[in-house]
Amino acid sequence: MKPYFLIGNWKSNIQLSEAMQWFQIFHDTFFKHSMINEILLVLCVPFTLLAPAREFLAKYNTPIQLGAQDISPFGKGAYTGEINADMIKEFASYVLVGHSERRRYFHETKEELEFEILQAKTSDLTVIYCVSSEKDDIPQSIDVVAYEPVGAIGTGKPEDPEVAGRVCRKLKEKTGKPVLYGGSVSLDSIDGLLKKDAIDGFLIGKASLDPEQFFKLYKHIAAYSA
Ligand code: PGA
Repeated sequence: MKPYFLIGNWKSNIQLSEAMQWFQIFHDTFFKHSMINEILLVLCVPFTLLAPAREFLAKYNTPIQLGAQDISPFGKGAYTGEINADMIKEFASYVLVGHSERRRYFHETKEELEFEILQAKTSDLTVIYCVSSEKDDIPQSIDVVAYEPVGAIGTGKPEDPEVAGRVCRKLKEKTGKPVLYGGSVSLDSIDGLLKKDAIDGFLIGKASLDPEQFFKLYKHIAAYSA
């Protein structure tokens, strides 16, 4: 069976004390079930949580890797408010680039995203590049594609698995990279999506905020890929 990705995206939710609780609950549940499999677990947390999250995960040996949700298109320098690739690399190995919320609310352009990717790759970060259609341009140097149809993000209405599977297949053929699906994935919708060969994993927003729900999603994938 192929290795799956399960990637949580906390967006601009969750403060420090909630995060510590989340990790404790997830850790306890995970080790109670002690499952060995090939699922790659990544959590994209707000910048403020990267350091404490890394400390927790290292101390308790929890098999979650960390990611950032955004990255500066610039390197080190006079760019007030920016978090650059080297700063992220101190704590995390993944980064989301081009999430539709960054494109929509922060007007990130194609050129900016290209600079972000360049910065990320210079610091050896794994880039998860988000697109909303198979027609989107995808730079060659990204590592993983996340297909997130805009109408499915945060609406509770995931895309029909047939359509999602078809688009993910096209993206896979176009890029040769692993392709994730994201957009209202929940315990109710994951089974249909898991049956689609072209889907290599999931990018999960809302359902990643609850550690028990996130663990159940993990269990579903583990059972499917066993
Ligand atoms: P959602 O978010 O699971 O809450 O729809 C997915 C995403 O935006 O990455």
